[in-house]
Amino acid sequence: MSVTILAIESSCDETSAAVCTDGKILSNFIANQSVHEKYGGVVPELASRAHAQNIVPVVDTALSSANCSLPSVDAIAFTQAPGLIGSLLVGAQFAKSLSLALNKPLIAVHHMQAHVLANLIADPKPSFPFLCLTVSGGHTQIVICESPTQLRVIGETIDDAAGEAFDKSAKLLGLPYPGGPLIDKYAKEGNPDRFQFPEPRIPGLDFSFSGLKTSILYFLQNAGTSLVYKEEFRASEQERYQFIQENLNDICASIQQRIVTILLHKLRKAAQETGIRDICLAGGVSANSGLRKAFEEMGKQQGWRTFIPAFQYCTDNAAMIAITGYYKYQAGQFAGLDIEASARAEW
Ligand code: KG4
Ligand code: ZN
Repeated sequence: MSVTILAIESSCDETSAAVCTDGKILSNFIANQSVHEKYGGVVPELASRAHAQNIVPVVDTALSSANCSLPSVDAIAFTQAPGLIGSLLVGAQFAKSLSLALNKPLIAVHHMQAHVLANLIADPKPSFPFLCLTVSGGHTQIVICESPTQLRVIGETIDDAAGEAFDKSAKLLGLPYPGGPLIDKYAKEGNPDRFQFPEPRIPGLDFSFSGLKTSILYFLQNAGTSLVYKEEFRASEQERYQFIQENLNDICASIQQRIVTILLHKLRKAAQETGIRDICLAGGVSANSGLRKAFEEMGKQQGWRTFIPAFQYCTDNAAMIAITGYYKYQAGQFAGLDIEASARAEW
């Protein structure tokens, strides 16, 4: 019997709905919220309000572009955690109401599990167990995926996420939010070996990005003359501005290269320690062209089979919630109507 899932994602600032039948994505519609741009980051209350406004038309569009009617939906999947609580509540309440009105089962999805399973949307798919480096604005994790419903985090950031490292670096350079894609753009024209930012020495498979942010701050305060704080070198506002203007491409390329090497050195270590050869990327930062290229190159050197979801399934989207919903449906993992959205969630 064929199974159709309607999925809703509203964990941060994208309202998205998708329809999938038997694991095949029929539609995936995303409404971005431009309202946050002028604030330099996502404003939680504005995000919740925008979700409340967007959710009906977004679900409607996803259904109609999949040529699907509500009665033919077999289950409703939604992002239950983690994320901004006000944003999650909008999607959760909407999904619960639909489930109640249609008398169809409800499936609660963990956003980070869904990022990993985005790698199961297209063919060829990785074989189990596979490793996944999930890099987003809120998380940086290395996960072992034993099956679609058995995932284990074996390494994660102890401070900032990789996406935050990109966005905070961009902010220091005076670039608008979210700065990750802009660093990617300028880095394409720059020399990544021009400036040497330090690689942190963190034991095991965990990551840290806060030291990088501090060294970039000092580097800019000293207009490129030093990575450590030195009062005597402190450049004026004008000197700093001019230094950034004249060297933006090289600075972006050097920052991006360091973030990428921090990520890939730990991923290589994880692959060596586990012996796993099917390796995936996931999350918004996997849209980064430098990371994608270096990941593919490392894969060739190390003899991995590498997988990266299509661009539209890397950043937040409901297709990944739909595919996870589909596997949870197969495993009989349903939620009660009393389930609550949660800002934080352990695996
Ligand atoms: O997965 P995602 O869409 O949302 C979260 O769950 O956080 O990831 C968003 C993050 C942001 O930090 C954004 O700057 C980053 O992904 N990002 C990029 C690129 N595209 C998105 N970072 C670097 N290069 C990119 N091309
Ligand atoms: Zn995400």
